[in-house]
Amino acid sequence: MRTPLIVGNWKMNKTASEAAAFIRDLLERLPAAPSAEVVLAPPFTALESASRALGPDAWISLGAQNLHWEQQGAFTGEVSAPMLRELGCRYVILGHSERRLLFGERDEVIQKKIRTALTEGLAPILCVGESLAEREAGHTESVVTTQLNGSLAGLTQQDLATVTIAYEPVWAIGTGRAATTEQAVTVHRSIRLFVETGWNHETAAAIRILYGGSVTPQNAESFLASETIDGALVGGACLNPDSFATIVRIARTQKA
Ligand code: PGA
Repeated sequence: MRTPLIVGNWKMNKTASEAAAFIRDLLERLPAAPSAEVVLAPPFTALESASRALGPDAWISLGAQNLHWEQQGAFTGEVSAPMLRELGCRYVILGHSERRLLFGERDEVIQKKIRTALTEGLAPILCVGESLAEREAGHTESVVTTQLNGSLAGLTQQDLATVTIAYEPVWAIGTGRAATTEQAVTVHRSIRLFVETGWNHETAAAIRILYGGSVTPQNAESFLASETIDGALVGGACLNPDSFATIVRIARTQKA
């Protein structure tokens, strides 16, 4: 049984004090419940205040939005896994399309980051997804498979047990134009098949696959009602405590 997972990707939004205020507000709206796991991924600069606001018995986990694959060294502007661990991070989003498109991250680099995350005790959330042109050319499946291959090749079954995959079509991110549930389900099935072929049935049955791209309180129910969609990676709608809490509640109900 896969525990549903709702991840809020704050991107480059909220200062440290805004993060603390947001979390206090969210915790008032949302009592703890084991039926869905919740992760918040604030910017690096807000991780410490977010961790403090979540408190010592936090039931919401913290995630980072990126890391460097080395532990330390001359990498100006970068942040390493041990630094993130010490601030209380348990997850890290890797391979987001904004990192790929705006910062030139390629699958080989994403693979290095995934390996570092795994050895340093952070659970990677690997993002994959096609552009509109790739979808229109009928290349969705091959693009996603190439990304999966490039970033997951060589990992063991045990490694995969800690990995989450987020299918995020690039054309759906921040556009208000979410994929249809059918489109998401089709790609989710091919991702699960990729894992089954590359590893085995047990690994494919256990891995969590999320949908991301313009998820809102209005469309979350349809995505989360699908048996193969294990949760959501939420951008814009996670910045508002009311809409994020609503999406978490929907996950709790749909997956109960
Ligand atoms: P969005 O972003 O929900 O604003 O489309 C999702 C993401 O980029 O992870």
